[in-house]
Amino acid sequence: MLTLKQISKTYGNQEVLGQISFELGEEEFVSIIGKSGVGKTTLLSIMAGLVSPDSGKVIFSNSDITRYSEEQLAGFRLKNIGIVFQDFKLIPSLSVFDNIYLAIYPRKDIDEKEKNKRILDLIDQVGLSGKENKCVDNLSGGEKQRVAIARSLVNRPKIVLADEPTGNLDEATSDKIMNLFESLHKKYSTTFVIVTHEKDIAKKTKKVYQLSNRRLSPVKGGKTE
Ligand SMILES: Nc1ncnc2c1ncn2[C@@H]1O[C@H](COP(=O)(O)OP(=O)(O)OP(=O)(O)O)[C@@H](O)[C@H]1O
Ligand SMILES: [Mg+2]
Repeated sequence: MLTLKQISKTYGNQEVLGQISFELGEEEFVSIIGKSGVGKTTLLSIMAGLVSPDSGKVIFSNSDITRYSEEQLAGFRLKNIGIVFQDFKLIPSLSVFDNIYLAIYPRKDIDEKEKNKRILDLIDQVGLSGKENKCVDNLSGGEKQRVAIARSLVNRPKIVLADEPTGNLDEATSDKIMNLFESLHKKYSTTFVIVTHEKDIAKKTKKVYQLSNRRLSPVKGGKTE
């Protein structure tokens, strides 16, 4: 579904990714592990079309998204990609509801009633019921992370790219989020790519990849079906 072909990325004189090829199929549930600063966020950003690689192709459904205009990229992301950013990227002055609403607002193919229902369902599923009107600025780190998770799922994307989605959560809440990901993976056949430094989280995915020395390689230890 999403294929990376010989992707390279250099910042200044630091080569972060070197000739990475990676195939992400339908209905996958994978994690990417790797040390801090190794390039995990850069890799996810390239998959999402948020950062352009220096060379290589990112193919989604037979088109090379690295050739897309900004407008085409925005359309591609809106329907296909959900992102949980490592630093959340929420709008602090807006409420929980409105932060999630902004992500689904441009969808003309979904009516307002359905939009509202989806948002409230997700707020409930991430354990934030009762806080929908609270300003995001006044939430705890873990609560903000859960808003970011709900927002990533609201368009029912084909692929969710989650950058340390449980990094600020306690074990019980992390487990709930991983269970939510797993149930959405099964219910809507959503593909999940989860960047994590927590071995216990990686163990819950079906495939585990490690990013090191500019390369991405599969590692043993993923949960088998
Ligand atoms: N926009 C940028 N300009 C210059 N250097 C950058 C930029 N983005 C990332 N880097 C550098 O590229 C390297 C990889 O960064 P990246 O954020 O992808 O790592 P990471 O694996 O996600 O790290 P962490 O686990 O700490 O989040 C780092 O050395 C970082 O300083
Ligand atoms: Mg990162």
